[in-house]
Amino acid sequence: MNAHFEAKAASNIAFLKYWGKRDGPQQWPANDSFSMTLNALCSTTRAQRNQVGDHRFIFEGQLLTRSDKRFAKTFRQLDHLAEALEVQGALDIESENNFPTGAGIASSASGLAALTLAAVAAWYDTDCWDTLRERGLSRERLAHLARMGSGSAGRSVFGGYVLWKAGDSPEQQSIEPFYPAEHWSLCDSVVLFSTSEKGLGSTEAHAHAWTSPLFRPRLAGLPERLNSMKDAVRERQWDRLGPLLETEALEMHAVIMTATPSHQYLNTAALDFLGELRAARLRGEHSAYFTIDAGPNIHVIYPNEDRERVRNWLNSKYPGSVLHDGVGAGPSLRRL
Ligand code: PMV
Repeated sequence: MNAHFEAKAASNIAFLKYWGKRDGPQQWPANDSFSMTLNALCSTTRAQRNQVGDHRFIFEGQLLTRSDKRFAKTFRQLDHLAEALEVQGALDIESENNFPTGAGIASSASGLAALTLAAVAAWYDTDCWDTLRERGLSRERLAHLARMGSGSAGRSVFGGYVLWKAGDSPEQQSIEPFYPAEHWSLCDSVVLFSTSEKGLGSTEAHAHAWTSPLFRPRLAGLPERLNSMKDAVRERQWDRLGPLLETEALEMHAVIMTATPSHQYLNTAALDFLGELRAARLRGEHSAYFTIDAGPNIHVIYPNEDRERVRNWLNSKYPGSVLHDGVGAGPSLRRL
C-alpha cells in the first residue's frame, strides 16, 4: 500500500500585483510582486501513488478528467512536475477548497501550491521538509515548481510576507520570504460580491496586459511603489501601506479595463462598496483599506489592533458574505 500525503496551502493576497508576463511558457512575470500569505482560506490536497496508467483527480467529490477545461492547469502541472523531477508513476489526488473556487480569491494560488507539495511528497515518499531539501527540493525550488502551475502559487509556498522577483532572465527569478507572519499581524476580510467562476481566466488576461496604454507606464512606476511598500511593511507603517494597496489594485484594474479586449471584473455592488469603505474610513469609523485580485470580491486589509471595529462595520453592512482571515505561517505537509 502506497503512503498517502496531505498538503494544506493557504491562498495569498498580492499587495503589489503580478500582472502580465514577459514570457508565457517560462512563467516569467513582467514585474516583481509582493504578497501576504493567508491563514485560513486554504486548499487541502491528498496524493497517493496509484497502480493505474494516468492520474486520477477528484475535486470536491467530483472525478475530473484531462478533458475538463476548468482543471487543465492541474493535469498540466502534474505533467510538468513529473518531467522536471524525472519521476514516474501516476497519482490519485483529492482536493478541496474551503472558499469559492475561481472567484478572485486566488484559488489557483492555494490550489496549485497544495497540489505541487502533495504530489512531490507522494513521489518522494516523505512529508519532511529537511529530507526534501537534502534531495534538492529546497523551499525555493518547490516555490518555483508551484509557480509553473500558476504564478501566484509560488508565493503560497512561503508564509508571511513574500517577494517574487522577476530578475533579468527567466532563470534569475527568485521567490523569497521577506518577513514571517509574526512580524506584523495584518488581517484580510474578503467581501464576496459574486461566488460564481470569473468570466476571464488569469492566463488569458495576463496576455492582454501589454495591449493597455497604461501598462508600460505602470511597469515604469512599480519599482518605486515596491520600495515604499517594503519600507512600510518593514516599519509596520499602516498609514503608509494602506493607500499604496488601493492605488496598486485600482491601477491593475485600470490596465484590465483599458486592454484589448477590455474586461471588467468589478460589478456595481463591488464598486459601490469601495466608495462606502473609503467614506467610513474618512469619517474615522475604521482604518481599513482595500485591495482586489482579478475578480469582483474585495479584500479589506487592516491591522489586528483595529479588528473589532472593522469586523463590526463589515458585519453590520454585509452579514454572511464576508470571509475573515489574516496573515498565516505557510503550508503544512503530513503523512496520513
Ligand atoms: O497566478 P495567476 O496566473 O492566477 O495570476 C494572479 C494574478 C493576481 O492574483 C491578480 C495578482 C497576484 O499577484 O496574485
